[in-house]
Amino acid sequence: MAEFVPVPSFDLVVFGASGDLALRKLFPSLFHRYKDGQIPDDSRIVGVARQVMTKDAFRQSVSEGFANLAKGDPSSPEFQAFLALIDYVALDATKADGPWDHLVQSLADGEDKVRVFYLSTPPSVFGGICAQLRDAGLVSPASRVVLEKPLGRDLMSAKAINDAVAEVFSEDRVYRIDHYLGKETVQNLLVLRFANALFEPVWSRAAIDHVQITVAETIGVGSRGDYYDKSGAMRDMVQNHLLQLLCLVAMEPPNSVDADAIRTEKIKVLQALVPIGPADIASHSVRGQYRAGLVEKEAVKGYLEDLGPDRTSSTETYVALKAEIANWRWSGVPFYLRTGKRLPSRRSEIVVTFRPPPHSLFGHGGEANQLVMRLQPDEGMEMWLQIKEPGPGGLRVKSVPLDLSYETAFTLRYPDAYERLLMDVVRGNLSLFMRKDEVESAWAWVDQVIAAWESAGTQPDPYAAGSDGPLQAALLMDRDGRKWRDLI
Ligand code: BG6
Repeated sequence: MAEFVPVPSFDLVVFGASGDLALRKLFPSLFHRYKDGQIPDDSRIVGVARQVMTKDAFRQSVSEGFANLAKGDPSSPEFQAFLALIDYVALDATKADGPWDHLVQSLADGEDKVRVFYLSTPPSVFGGICAQLRDAGLVSPASRVVLEKPLGRDLMSAKAINDAVAEVFSEDRVYRIDHYLGKETVQNLLVLRFANALFEPVWSRAAIDHVQITVAETIGVGSRGDYYDKSGAMRDMVQNHLLQLLCLVAMEPPNSVDADAIRTEKIKVLQALVPIGPADIASHSVRGQYRAGLVEKEAVKGYLEDLGPDRTSSTETYVALKAEIANWRWSGVPFYLRTGKRLPSRRSEIVVTFRPPPHSLFGHGGEANQLVMRLQPDEGMEMWLQIKEPGPGGLRVKSVPLDLSYETAFTLRYPDAYERLLMDVVRGNLSLFMRKDEVESAWAWVDQVIAAWESAGTQPDPYAAGSDGPLQAALLMDRDGRKWRDLI
């Protein structure tokens, strides 16, 4: 049985409550925590959006979201009991005359409770909403704010948002979400590295040849084209999820699992990333954009058709990068990052390739050891070792994995990342959230890559949906005498 650390009773206000993220992830995650008995019955959840509708109509859309987007069963008695915690308030949160009094009423008598404001809205309104919350007298001593990504679109806008939010909430009350940090397997990276003495002596340039971090998706941009086209894979995935994974692989051991101890070590990695400027952009990066093709045997449209009729765009739906970290541990060890939409399989993994043996006793057939951390799906770990192929006739060496599947080892339902993160907000645990300077350091590195692309004036390379991405990405590895791990 999983153990659930109880949380105190709380009030949670979700801004952007009729949006895709709220219906697909936030409400279903809250339900699972409720069903497991972690959320006290006197907690209150208030959805806020501009659309005028009754509480019952909103509860109905939460039920439909649970059925259609989260593939759950809203008819269960537990779900119906969960719906009873939910209220709805229609208001324009960017305006002083919102009207705010209905929200004030829904939160009445809750000044002493933990109060969470979850901003699942475009980042351009984060600062404005915080100011309105303060002016409406809603920021109680136990209030905290959750900021959904993307946090801006570059360093300058991220700083402006951070400053505006800081006028209302001190840094220890700001929870910047990167949902990858809530994934079980991502948290396991910390445990793997720092609870097993085995890895630390070999976790450096002395024994590691290179690291690959892949987040491959089969989905296209779907109905998110308007947002995505202004963002692209670099801002949507690399700036946050991939750089966070890189930090967890590369960081020094923190002194404790305290939020600041962990975050300080991650920032050091981000600050040590070598800039990819105009001179390196062609050799260190690839941008791609998907065209029509076949994904998992289904014919799908290209990116431009997904955006709508007669659209043109130079936004990338695929990125591959060769990142380098200038410090004692990692100097000379490339970290290859790649992410893309409409790739042949959904797969997120980190592959650490060790150096080959210094001298080959057995002739051909020996390959370098690899540690593969499968983040999703089929969470687990493989340690690829060389063994003797059984049978007579000499010593033939073969690569085989020691394979740990979490599903087989632990027979638990895998909680969604948001379940863990939402409960951490209520508990006041900031370890899995990004600090202001962390987000800003990540933007500083990403900004100069984007600036180098812009000054080169090149277009993304096309790739067929269902392929491994542009050929140029394979060539990026090939130039270094290396290969991406297969996506299928
Ligand atoms: C989001 C991105 O942050 O992560 C999406 O905005 C992407 O474009 C998603 O599809 C991937 O998350 P997951 O958990 O499905 O790997």
